[in-house]
Amino acid sequence: MTKLFYGLIFILFISLAQAQDCPILPTPVVYTTQTGSLNFSNNLAVDLTNLDQNLKAQLIALADTYHQLKIESGQDKSLIIFKKLENVKQDSYSINVNESIIISYSSDRSCYYAFHSLMQMIEKINANEFSISKSFVKDYPSYQWRGLHLDVARHFFSVEEVKQFIDQMAIYKFNVFHWHLTDDQGWRIEIKKYPKLTSIGAWRDSTVENHFTTAPRTYKKERYGGFYTQLEIKAIVAYAQERYITVVPEIEMPGHARAALAAYPMYSCTGIQQEVPGLWGIFDDIFCAKEESIVFLQDILSEVIPLFPGEFIHVGGDEAPKTRWHDCEKCQAIMKEQKLKDEHELQSYFIQRMDKYLLSNGKKLIGWDEILEGGLSPNAAVMSWRGFDGGIEAANQEHQVVMSPGSHCYFDHYQGKGSEEPLAIGGFTPLEKVYEFQPIPRGLDSFKASYILGGQANLWTEYIPDFNQLMYMTYPRAIALSQALWCEDLPKYELFEKTLMNKHLDLLTANKINYSPTFLKPNFSFTRTITGIDFKVKSKSNEEQFEFKDRSDSSLNVNFKGSYDLPINRTRGTKKLTYSVNSFTTGIQKNIAITNNPCLGVPVVYLTKPSNQYNNGDLTLVDGQFGARPWKGNEWIGFDTSVVVIEIDLTKKQRIDSLQVSFLKDENSWIHLPCTIEFQDLKTKKGKGIGAAPNFYDERQVLYIGKKVQKFTITIKTLDQIPQGKPGAGSHPWLFIDEISIKNKL
Ligand code: ACM
Ligand code: ZN
Repeated sequence: MTKLFYGLIFILFISLAQAQDCPILPTPVVYTTQTGSLNFSNNLAVDLTNLDQNLKAQLIALADTYHQLKIESGQDKSLIIFKKLENVKQDSYSINVNESIIISYSSDRSCYYAFHSLMQMIEKINANEFSISKSFVKDYPSYQWRGLHLDVARHFFSVEEVKQFIDQMAIYKFNVFHWHLTDDQGWRIEIKKYPKLTSIGAWRDSTVENHFTTAPRTYKKERYGGFYTQLEIKAIVAYAQERYITVVPEIEMPGHARAALAAYPMYSCTGIQQEVPGLWGIFDDIFCAKEESIVFLQDILSEVIPLFPGEFIHVGGDEAPKTRWHDCEKCQAIMKEQKLKDEHELQSYFIQRMDKYLLSNGKKLIGWDEILEGGLSPNAAVMSWRGFDGGIEAANQEHQVVMSPGSHCYFDHYQGKGSEEPLAIGGFTPLEKVYEFQPIPRGLDSFKASYILGGQANLWTEYIPDFNQLMYMTYPRAIALSQALWCEDLPKYELFEKTLMNKHLDLLTANKINYSPTFLKPNFSFTRTITGIDFKVKSKSNEEQFEFKDRSDSSLNVNFKGSYDLPINRTRGTKKLTYSVNSFTTGIQKNIAITNNPCLGVPVVYLTKPSNQYNNGDLTLVDGQFGARPWKGNEWIGFDTSVVVIEIDLTKKQRIDSLQVSFLKDENSWIHLPCTIEFQDLKTKKGKGIGAAPNFYDERQVLYIGKKVQKFTITIKTLDQIPQGKPGAGSHPWLFIDEISIKNKL
C-alpha cells in the first residue's frame, strides 16, 4: 500500500486538530498556548555567539533539515534568545514564544532538546513564510536511560545507516544507543590484537531463509557479513555524542559466541573448529570459563573501552547453555577451586571477573537479566528482558536496572495481526502496547524504584535484513516508547495517535523513513455476547469509508463510515463464514474467516492458568478463528504445565458429534503436540479420551463424542520432557492451543 493512500487519512485528521493540541513528541511536561502567532521568513536571525561550537552546528543543521530554515548568526535583533540557567532540574528547558522566542536551558543537551521541540512547533505557511503559536513549553525527561538497541550481528548495517538510525533517535530525545556488536552469526568490531575475529568471525557462508522454524530449512548460500574498523566506531560514537547520545557497546559473553569461536576455537570448551553459523537460535558452544578465555575477553575489552566514552559496557550474559561447561574438565576444576555449587555460579564467577576488570578500567558492567542467576556481581547493572521480574529483583538488591521486557520493548515482534505483515520472529507488540510501557512496575517502593534508570526497545535483526525493514519495525513504535520514557504525565493514547498522524508521520516521510502504517489499518475486534460473538471493525478515522461484504452470503454487503458491528449468533451445526472489509479511502482490503459452530463465544474457564506471556483471554479459544502461521503470539494460548484442564459450558444441553482441539506443532520453538486428550461430561462424569502418541501427528485432534452434553472439561497431558535429539531436549515442552470447536451436522 502506498504512502499516498495513507496521506488521505491524515488529511482527514488535520481538519479535526484542535489549536491547543501539542505538536511536540515526546509530549512536554507543560504546553500552553495564547491567542496569536509569531510569523517569520525562512531566514532566521539568531544570536548564537554564546553557544558551544557543536551545539551551534547542530542547531543550524536542525533548522535546515526540519524546515530548510537558514540561520543567520550574530544579528542585532535576534528572533531566538538563548538563556542558560543554573541550579535547575537536569536536562530541563523552557520555550516562551511571544514577540520573540526565548529558550532557557540547563545544559547544552537540553538546549538541543528545546530546539527539536521548537522545530516541531513550527508550521509552514509557504516556502518563505512560517508561523508558530504564541505558547509556553516547560520540559524535562522522566527517565535518564531512554534507549534503542540495534543488533548488527544477525544483519549488518553500514556506517551511514547507523548514523541515520542515530539521527532519527535524536528527534525523539533518546539518549542511549545500545550497539549489539557481537553474536553467533557475526563479530562486527575490529580488535587489533585478534584480527581473525573480523577476518573469519565477521563472515558467514549462508543464511537461513524464511522463519527458522520452517521445516525443511533452506539456506541462501551467499557469503554475508561486514564489520566496523575502530576508526569507523570512533566516528559513529562521535556522531552520536554530537547529538547527545551515549553509545553502549555490547560484547556478548559467555554465550552467543560462535562467531568469535569460529576464529579462535581454543577459547571454547571443546576446542573443535566450527563455522560461523547461518542459522538463528541458541548454540551450546560458548566461551570456556578457563583463565585463557577470560584473559582473551579482557584483552578484547581493553581495546573496546577506549572507543566508548560512556559509563557502561554491556557484556550480554543471556542464553548461555551450560552443557559444555558441565562436560568440561577445566570448567569443573574452576568450580571446585572456587567452591561453586553449579554452572550458574560459574557464570556468576565469569561475570564477576569482567565486572572487576571493567571497574578497574573506570567502566560499569551491564548485562541481560540472566546475570542474576548464581548471584549478581557486586557492581553490575541489569537489563531486564524476560519480563519485569529480573529488573524488580535487581532493584530490590539495590542494583541499577534498565527495563526492556519482551512484552513491550521487543520491536522484532509483529505489530499487526494481518497476514500481510512482513515475516517477524513472533510475538505481538502493537503500538498501543508499547505506549502502555511503564519502566517502574507497580508495587515497587519508591526507594527501590530509584534504581530503575529507564527503558529501551531492542531491534534484533534475524528477520530485519535491511534498513527499510529496520525502520518499518522501529517506527512509529519508537515514538510511543519515547512517550513512555519521557513524559511525566502520559497523554491518552488517542491524543498521542492524533499528534502522530497530524504531524509526525509527515516528518517521518520527509526524513525518508519507511515507517509501518499498520496502526492506521482498521482494527478487527471480537467480544463475547450471550448468543455468540460481536465482530467489530473500527477505523482510525470516523470519516473513512468502507465496504463490508459477507463472501459466503451475497445478501450482506454494506457500506459504512468509521466503524461497523456484526453480531454473529452461534449455530447448531458447523458453517464457514468469510468476510471482506474494503476501505475506499485507503484501498486496503482485509479478509477474515470464522468457523461458526456450537462453541462460538461460549464461556471458557481455564482451570489451568495459561502462561502470562501467551494468554490473550478466554475468547481466543472459541472465537471461530485458527491461528496463522508462522504463529503470532496473539492468536494462541500457551501453557507451560504438564496437565492443562479447560472447562467449556455450551449454555444448553445439545448433541455433539465430535469435538476438535487445534494445537500448534513447532518443535524448533519447543512447542510440542500433547500425549493425551480426555473429554469429561461434568454432569454424568463420563469421559472419552484419545492418545497416546503415535496418534499425535496432527495439529487438529478430533474426539468423537456422539451424545448430548452441556458442560464438559477437556484434560490435555503433555510430554514430561522434550525428547532427545530435538531442540530443547530434556526441558519441559510448551503446549499451544488456538481453537476448540464442535463438529455437528447443520
Ligand atoms: C535476549 O533477547 N536474548 C536478550
Ligand atoms: Zn570449559
